This record gives sequence, structure tokens and C-alpha cells, in this order.
Amino acid sequence: MAKLGVNIDHVATVREARKTNEPDPAWAATLAELGGADGITLHLREDRRHIQDRDVRVLMETVAVPVNLELACSADVLRIACEAHPHQATLVPERREEVTTEGGLDVAGCYDQVASACEQLRGAGIIVSLFIDPDPKQIEAAAKIGVEAVELHTGVYAHASAKHAAAEPLKVLQDAGKLVRQLGLTLHAGHGLTYRNVQPVAALPEMCELNIGHSIIARAIMVGLEQAVRDMKRLIVEASA
Ligand code: PXP
Repeated sequence: MAKLGVNIDHVATVREARKTNEPDPAWAATLAELGGADGITLHLREDRRHIQDRDVRVLMETVAVPVNLELACSADVLRIACEAHPHQATLVPERREEVTTEGGLDVAGCYDQVASACEQLRGAGIIVSLFIDPDPKQIEAAAKIGVEAVELHTGVYAHASAKHAAAEPLKVLQDAGKLVRQLGLTLHAGHGLTYRNVQPVAALPEMCELNIGHSIIARAIMVGLEQAVRDMKRLIVEASA
């Protein structure tokens, strides 16, 4: 069954809107765990627009489930990741002007840079996942590097599902998932997943981990975080059954 990694970046986004000390992502992590999160995901961006260095340290000390730290292939955050030693690091592309992560990491095009970042993280004993588009070229490059997992970018599927036109992008994810498994990598997925579109992705064969942030935090504003996580978890369990 797919595990649920709850991305708590947007709790820090609310805090940073006022540059104050509340809400603390550590509170959110505790509630997410109570709601059934299998993991906590956070993205330490180079521009520090939401998660701060202190959050990484505090969460590493307080979170009981595995922590997945998302980061770009840049020296500053790679050093912090190696020191913090999360269970898993997911390498993502980053552009300062983007609203959120757009597109997957170009592993094939930036092979040496990505391979070197992976080597650094793995040298520190951290499991490495690469956030990539569901594109055979990128999956093969990831396998060549020898990472443990890839997280397929579900953004195109999510966008299409909002317009009830998700069949084709879902097929792309299915085919990509098959190749991921054939190449011996662990299958993760994320980005843009919601309570409405999560189930077909959760049901992909051998789907191991889904990382979901915005939709859960959006619902949490209305029903509370523990309940919002519980609701998402139930959908994933149902889809996997
Ligand atoms: N996975 C990765 C690699 C991401 O960068 C993000 C966004 O931070 C997510 C999953 C979660 O996306 P969303 O907030 O749309 O659920």
C-alpha cells in the first residue's frame, strides 16, 4: 500500500507571511502523525520562502516517522541535508520565480551535477529519490545513477483531472511506473494530488509513497489537520485495496 508523506511547507508559508513564530511546522508534523501520516515531507528552498534551517533541525528532533527532505542540487542545502541526516532526500529542480516546483529534475540533461549530489547524500547514508517527469529518458538516467527511488511528477495528470481529461496523462504515469519497477527503482509520486484525483495514482501497481501538501493543508484550514490527513489516508487505503 502507498505510504502518505504529508508536506508541511505551507504551514511555514503562513508563518512567513508575517515573519513571526506561528504556526510552527513542528505542531503540524505532530498532528499529521496523529492523523496517520507515514512520513513528513519538507522542502528547504534556496530562497527560504517557507521552511527555514531551524525547522529542519527541530523537525529532525521531534518527528517520529521518516522525514523526507526536498532540496535542489546546490551546495548550501546539500550541506544542511547531510548534517540533518533525514531518512530520505528528494532532489527537485528549483527556480526562484516559480510559485511551486514546476516540472521534474532534468536528470538526463544535468547528469553529472545530479549524480554528484546523489553521491554526496548517499555518502551521508541518506536514501535518495529524484523528482522527475514521467518520461522514459529521465527514468533511465535516474536508474543509471543508481538512486533508490524516483518520485513521478503528477502535475500534468492533476491539471488534466480538474478538466475531467485525465485518461491520457494517467496512462503516461502507468507506463512510467512500469518502467520504474522494471529498472528496480522504488515508485513515488506527487504534486497537485487532491482528495478528488489521488485514487487512480494510489492504485498504480507497487506505488510506494505519495507526497501531498497543498490539498491537505487547504482542507486542514476547514476541518483541522489531523482530520484532513485522516481523510486523505482513507482514500489511499481504499485505492490500494
Ligand atoms: N512532491 C514534490 C517533489 C514537491 O516539490 C511538492 C511541492 O512542494 C509536492 C510533492 C507536493 O505538491 P502539492 O503541494 O501540490 O501536493
